Amino acid sequence: MDAKKVAVIGGGTMGNGIAHVFAMSGIPVNLIETKQEFADRALSTIEKNLDRMVKKEKIDEAKRSETLDSISIFLDVKEGVKDVDLVVEAVPENFEIKKSVWSQVDEAAPDHAILGSNTSSISITKLAALTDRPEKFIGMHFFNPVPVMKLVEIVRGLETNDETYDVVEETAKKLNKAPVPVNDAPGFVSNRVLMPMINEAIFCVGEGVATPENVDEVMKLGMAHPMGPLRLADFIGLDVCLDILNVLYDGFKDPKYRPAPLLVKMVDAGKLGNKTGEGFYKYD
Ligand code: CAA
Repeated sequence: MDAKKVAVIGGGTMGNGIAHVFAMSGIPVNLIETKQEFADRALSTIEKNLDRMVKKEKIDEAKRSETLDSISIFLDVKEGVKDVDLVVEAVPENFEIKKSVWSQVDEAAPDHAILGSNTSSISITKLAALTDRPEKFIGMHFFNPVPVMKLVEIVRGLETNDETYDVVEETAKKLNKAPVPVNDAPGFVSNRVLMPMINEAIFCVGEGVATPENVDEVMKLGMAHPMGPLRLADFIGLDVCLDILNVLYDGFKDPKYRPAPLLVKMVDAGKLGNKTGEGFYKYD
């Protein structure tokens, strides 16, 4: 089976990036949002990112128009998934929201359709169990900014079958991404390795070992990271980092994953990083 048409549910930071890369690879996308204003915002972000690529001469004007023309907006989940081969869900990391979305998808998507979640922290096996086709359920974990980052972590749930894995791996290659298979476990591989580093960087700031700027300089200049861990935490969202650390902490029952008190305090204060204008740094 080939994924000839896809639905992307959610047009936020990850969802609009995912829709962008599918459409740019010539795969038509039904982009599903809850309100027209959210859909408009997603489309204008995609346009802005395509304009940036035209300016850098990575794509031409014709490719830009073709990409935008391949995206259709839907405000109803069932309508948007009824004629697709693959669904990629990128709604907020809240189990109740995902539960409601997946029950609608399972009811309306064609029987052959593969169901993929871009979750960064919720168990793929647990999400798969919300549907009547856990063997067709898989994690398709993209990285921000999606048009730039090569990795797609492909997460196999307990019942994901080989055919589902193969189709999703092939699809990721068509997007010009590098698929890496991992099995379902808290934080998968990416966040199990990344989040303890970010957390430790926050402990360093909280304990007065160094300023955020200096922690970031150490990791950028000493370890060649493109962004320091605190700038990256702001970019990901401090609330998202806290949620993922809690998933690791609860999942492994190991104190090494306990969230840094300063992280908890910043989330309580509403300083969530780029999206609220302030985190470890201030943003316009
Ligand atoms: N769309 C298209 N192109 C984009 C883009 C976007 N949204 N954002 C950046 N770019 C392109 C730029 O045009 C530029 O292209 P060239 O190399 O051809 O010039 C390139 O990406 C680099 O961008 P900039 O020059 O503007 O800035 P930069 O060099 O500082 O790079 C960055 C920006 C790519 C974000 C880089 O800092 C980086 O790689 N940071 C780390 C990002 C990271 O770790 N992401 C993973 C987060 S974890 C996650 O997403 C998953 C999770 O579960 C939490």
